[in-house]
Amino acid sequence: YVMRDRDFIERLIDRAKAAGCGALVITLDLQILGQRHKDIRNGLSTPPKPTLANLINLATKPRWIMGMAGTPRRKFGNIHGHVKGVTDMSNLGAWTADQFDPSLNWGDVEWIKKRWGGKIIIKGIMEPEDARLAVDSGADALVVSNHGGRQLDGAPSAIAALPGIVDAVGSQIEVHMDSGIRSGQDVLKAWALGARGTYIGRAFLWGLGAAGEAGVTKALQIIHKELDLTMAFCGHTRIETVDTGIFRPGTHPVA
Ligand SMILES: Cc1cc2nc3c(=O)[nH]c(=O)nc-3n(C[C@H](O)[C@H](O)[C@H](O)COP(=O)(O)O)c2cc1C
Repeated sequence: YVMRDRDFIERLIDRAKAAGCGALVITLDLQILGQRHKDIRNGLSTPPKPTLANLINLATKPRWIMGMAGTPRRKFGNIHGHVKGVTDMSNLGAWTADQFDPSLNWGDVEWIKKRWGGKIIIKGIMEPEDARLAVDSGADALVVSNHGGRQLDGAPSAIAALPGIVDAVGSQIEVHMDSGIRSGQDVLKAWALGARGTYIGRAFLWGLGAAGEAGVTKALQIIHKELDLTMAFCGHTRIETVDTGIFRPGTHPVA
């Protein structure tokens, strides 16, 4: 995310460089936070409030509590210690909410690209027109994404937006996709429609919540196996040969 605090962003870019990151992802679809009705209804907050419902919920997760009690990693390491005044979860929450920058524009992307000097991936594209602007900005790849449906209620799905964007810019820039990838079959469908990379958000977090690092590995293994099996059932041994021919009439995810 590009935050109002550009000093922080500059230092973040420099830290990513020092850490040897191969590409920088700039998310362009969260300059304002969507209304997340479930979060409001569930009373989601940072840090969690000790409400009766939360306490009952926690009481049913003793293993998770033990794990959290024993870990030194209860903070956002990317931010904690790098921003003045952010010392705990409550002022982290307040800082973050205050930092999203509604004035973000393509000039900022240019500035970040210059400062970074490496590969840039633009995330949060849903329209061919914005995809063309991403190409003009000199980005190396873009991610077709509706932020996992967490921003604009009523936004089309990313898989529906994908073919139009691939048509518009697929020969000029690598097109990736996220939002709704739950299985290897989803990965293959996105590939068949022109995505050359897919990402997971919640599938990663579900694995993490269930079993930590091993759970994330397991989630990736499940997706990989499904991808492998689906390719085999579709008669392909190499992903490069997969195209829209894998869709039987009436099963095309977008038509
Ligand atoms: C809990 C949560 C936190 C997220 N935080 C960020 C974030 O900090 N930056 C960002 O670009 N996207 C963020 N996302 C969106 C994901 O990067 C991704 O676009 C989305 O989750 C993909 O959809 P999926 O969950 O259906 O796979 C977040 C998503 C979730 C569920």
